[in-house]
Amino acid sequence: MNYKVTIREKNVTIEVTMGKTILECALNQQIEFPHGCRSGNCGACKSILHSGDLEMSPYSEYALTGEEKNRGLILPCRSVPWSDCEISIVDDDETRVHANRLLECKVVDLIQATHDIKIVKMSILSGGPYDFSAGQYASLTFEKLPPRDYSMANTPDTNTLEFHIRLLPDGTVTPHIQNNLKVGDTVSVQGPYGTAYLRENHKGPIIAVAGGSGLAPIQSILRTTLVYGIQQPITFYFGVRTDRDLYLEEEFKKLSQSYENFSFIPVISEPNIKTCHRTGFLDDAIAKDFHKVRGNKAYIAGPPVMVESVIKRLKNLGIQDADCHADAFYTEAEKKKMEIN
Ligand code: FES
Repeated sequence: MNYKVTIREKNVTIEVTMGKTILECALNQQIEFPHGCRSGNCGACKSILHSGDLEMSPYSEYALTGEEKNRGLILPCRSVPWSDCEISIVDDDETRVHANRLLECKVVDLIQATHDIKIVKMSILSGGPYDFSAGQYASLTFEKLPPRDYSMANTPDTNTLEFHIRLLPDGTVTPHIQNNLKVGDTVSVQGPYGTAYLRENHKGPIIAVAGGSGLAPIQSILRTTLVYGIQQPITFYFGVRTDRDLYLEEEFKKLSQSYENFSFIPVISEPNIKTCHRTGFLDDAIAKDFHKVRGNKAYIAGPPVMVESVIKRLKNLGIQDADCHADAFYTEAEKKKMEIN
């Protein structure tokens, strides 16, 4: 049995097969619907339910707060209708739509950035041109392994794609990347995806926050803003556990020396040697530096716990929901755990 779901502002009604999510069916029916993670973690698909019944499978509290749920907001990527429904998509200030492409790429460079992060650079062999917004991600397939999502670290105007890949020792894919991947190998890249991208029309200050390999999308956003000559203050916090987890530090130091409006603040959470960097958690560091952040745009990427604590702190400091653009990096194990719960 199918249910009908009307999307108000698009003036379109889609058929949703029993047991399927609204987002899944909308995308299958070639409807442009904002989305990111497709798993209830990012909030990009947030919509208003005007009428009808549906059930939502588990999702992250930061993608949809209890208060938002009480106001009738839903996540279509987790919503299975039980009747005909009417919804509308929560407005975004700057919607960007890029063609979804399947590219064949060739590895052109491999850089061991830290003990567990490898930077993989690729050139596009076929399937381009590849348009994306700084901060978006793609799904990468190495050989016959299952696809994995990684953010582009390069600016959208360059032809060499760059990804930062952290080794998960028990993972299925990253041990291959760490141990076997070599220059000349081909990789399938599908994308772009995600809505935590640079809002180019924003004229106020920017706070960028990266944890670990969450540096990739933030690097793309920062390089793009600086290349565009954006003049507003940009404060970049880069959080890692220990000094040996810091990478590209020199590059960001140089940028902070070259651009007066750009500040770079590395923060170490578990210093095991005497460090010259700030120590503690990222949300505390931000709260020490800012008393109010209303009017700022925030771009946040990294481990879910870090992302959630930073968003919570920024909201306490007055940032508006629409100004928080976050990309939480869930491992496959974490995604499975969410499915079970
Ligand atoms: S796409 Fe629905 S929460 Fe991410």
